[in-house]
Amino acid sequence: MRLTALLFVPADSEKKFEKAKGIGADGLILDLEDSVAPDNKAAARDGLAAWIDAANGPRDWAFWVRVNPFDTGLTEADLKAIVRPGLDGIVLPKANGGQDVARLADLIAPLERETGVQPGHVKILVVATETAAAMFNLASYAPAHPRLAALTWGAEDLGAVVGATNNKDADGSWTQPYQLARSLCLFAAANAGVPALDTLYSDFRDAEGLDASCRTSRRDGFVGRLAIHPAQVAGIQQAFAPSEEDVALARQIVAAFEANPGLGTLGIDGKMYDIPHLKQARRTLASIGE
Ligand code: COA
Ligand code: MG
Repeated sequence: MRLTALLFVPADSEKKFEKAKGIGADGLILDLEDSVAPDNKAAARDGLAAWIDAANGPRDWAFWVRVNPFDTGLTEADLKAIVRPGLDGIVLPKANGGQDVARLADLIAPLERETGVQPGHVKILVVATETAAAMFNLASYAPAHPRLAALTWGAEDLGAVVGATNNKDADGSWTQPYQLARSLCLFAAANAGVPALDTLYSDFRDAEGLDASCRTSRRDGFVGRLAIHPAQVAGIQQAFAPSEEDVALARQIVAAFEANPGLGTLGIDGKMYDIPHLKQARRTLASIGE
């Protein structure tokens, strides 16, 4: 499943949903959580079921829904309404660890059976850093549940948990607590053997800032990112695609190691390359289908 740019769409806005379908995002995340006011949640959930039915069929984007978190008591009702043919995945906010993935998976499985969805089809994307407890449970995503598609992280809710007045420095970079959350999300995902997606970039008019931020994300190991506005999707996809130079170097590295099967380290153009570089080169080529 492609996870480069996943666009959030409030689940109570049919207008935005209609627009979002044509944007070219790898997935749409219809949101039942924070972008829908409490009084609108039941109607949004019921409306979503019809949209999922209508979208069931060949299309080039995945249909995700962000459900309400377990502590609201709304999660099961959300799942009952939306697990049906056409749904590809659930985004679980405010998850507290691997046990929440298992709990969610146990709720999804019988609904898949009842509605005739292929068992295991509905995947899970976890927002892994939104509670204080979550920060201490990041190792628990390994071994990964078969439904676990990726981990991502969130700064806003975590800030509210600790009472932060801001989460960014004057230059726009994350303050220490959020850098820690972001880094631990990356390591937790690698530990579980699933991809990591960077959190959203909230200033949706700042295309240059988004580009710079995504290039940093890709450099650090994230494979994609959440989007909140249609204008962000193409920029994210461009920034996460390997450059021509990256691809050329990756091909050179793989070719050099294949030509020298006995070597664990070798030089290309005056630089040393060893097995971690070979792994990364293979990953770069895999990301473009080579
Ligand atoms: N999905 C689909 N369409 C969207 C969209 C989205 N996420 N965000 C904006 N649009 C549409 C608008 O409806 C508008 O359409 P129109 O030209 O047909 O009127 C167009 O894109 C331009 O929108 P713009 O005026 O720039 O933004 P806005 O002020 O209308 O909306 C937000 C700003 C933040 C409210 C909106 O981008 C949004 O709802 N984002 C998603 C929020 C969300 O789901 N958050 C949960 C995760 S944190
Ligand atoms: Mg939130």
